Parts: sequence; structure tokens; C-alpha cells
Amino acid sequence: MINIILIGPPGSGKGTQAKQISEKYHLKHLSTGDILRNEVKNQTPLGIQAKAIMDRGELVSDEIVIGMIQNFIDNTSNTNGFLYDGFPRTVAQAEALNKMLMAKNMSVDAILFMSAPDEVFIERLQKRAEIEGRSDDADINVIRKRLAEYYEKTFPVKNYYEHHLTNIFYTINANQEVNKVFQDICSIIDPLVKA
Ligand code: AP5
Repeated sequence: MINIILIGPPGSGKGTQAKQISEKYHLKHLSTGDILRNEVKNQTPLGIQAKAIMDRGELVSDEIVIGMIQNFIDNTSNTNGFLYDGFPRTVAQAEALNKMLMAKNMSVDAILFMSAPDEVFIERLQKRAEIEGRSDDADINVIRKRLAEYYEKTFPVKNYYEHHLTNIFYTINANQEVNKVFQDICSIIDPLVKA
């Protein structure tokens, strides 16, 4: 089983690429954002609690998110592996993932860092707000808060991976047409699935 992490700021294209990657390589797409939005939609107690936090552009607590991931991994079988989209986002989440994988004799196989200038992300999210109406895209201040959360809490995770798992850390130019980004990602994953 392979484990691939997609890491990058809001709007860097993690979700867009994750859909295509999981389809092509038959990986379970594990998006903490999608799971949380589903809880919000179904108005579960967790969803009601998470909605206010997400609408402010802040991160949901590590405890909640780690529990969700553990559940997902424990209840998934018959897969070629997992594709983590939007997780881990804090050092505590990265440490928890490490432990969960070790307990199942697995490890991270690749970290794909989606890189582009912040203006590109902001423009994409503002455009999506007009088309899809996602509540955390609607207000520029919330978009800026999401980016600030990224730099404060997730960038250290990216730096940790870049310096400690250098041989499996890949920087992807996310400021290209969707299919070109996908091609670049496939050129990294292809050898992993053939190995
Ligand atoms: P989450 O759903 O993970 O949102 P995000 O990280 O803010 O990311 P986005 O979905 O906005 O962007 P993306 O990088 O996936 O890009 P996408 O492909 O969608 O999290 C939402 C919230 O949930 C968080 O703020 C937090 O509150 C909570 N949460 C989630 N995970 C958590 C965790 N682990 N811990 C704590 N809290 C957590 O693309 C964006 C737009 O750009 C789309 O319109 C797309 O069509 C377009 N686009 C994509 N690629 C391209 C391209 N190459 N060229 C042009 N347009 C493109």
C-alpha cells in the first residue's frame, strides 16, 4: 500500500489533483475538508461545531481531525493505498499520522508540495466563490485567515518533511494548467506504483 500526502495552501489545487490521482491509481482519497463539509451538511454535532470554525478560516482541533483519519484508515480495506488531501496540517497531526502508519507497518511514500504565488490562490478562491458559493471562499478576510493559518501551522509541517524526508519530498509547480500539473504528479507516482 502506498501513502501519498498532498500539502499546500488553500486554492493550490489539492482537491482537484487528488480526484484525478485517486482515480488513476485506485487510492482512497482522504480529504479532511470534504469529510468536515459533509458533517456540516448533515448538521451532525461535529458539523455544527466545525462550521463556525471553518467559516472563520481557522483550523478545526487536532483531536477531532486525528480521530476522523484514524476512523477512515481503520475502516478502509481493499485499496492500493491512501491519498491525504489537507492532512496533516499541524505538527501534532503529522506525528499522529506517523504513529497510525507505523502501527499498520506502513510509511509515507511521497509528499507532494503544491507551490505557487499566494495571489494565484486568492484569485482562484475568489473565482470559485462566484461559481460554487463555498462559504469560506466568500470573504477575502476569511481567505486571508486561511492563508495565515497555513503559514503559521502547516508551513512548519512542510518544512519538517522537506528537511527530514528529503528523498520523498517533491515540489510541484501548481501554477500551470490542471492537466500539466497532473502530468508532473504522475511522473512522480508512476515509479512508486511500479516498484
Ligand atoms: P479544505 O477543504 O482542505 O480547504 P483548503 O485547504 O482551504 O483547500 P481548498 O479546497 O480551498 O483548495 P485546494 O488546494 O484543495 O484547491 P482546489 O483543488 O479545491 O479545508 C477547509 C477547512 O476545513 C479548513 O479551513 C479547516 O477549517 C478545516 N480543515 C480541513 N482539514 C483540516 C485539518 N487537517 N485540520 C484542521 N482543520 C481542517 O482548487 C481551488 C480552486 O482552484 C477550484 O475552483 C479549482 O477548480 C481551481 N483550480 C485548481 N487547480 C487549478 C489550476 N491548476 N489552474 C486553475 N485553476 C485551478
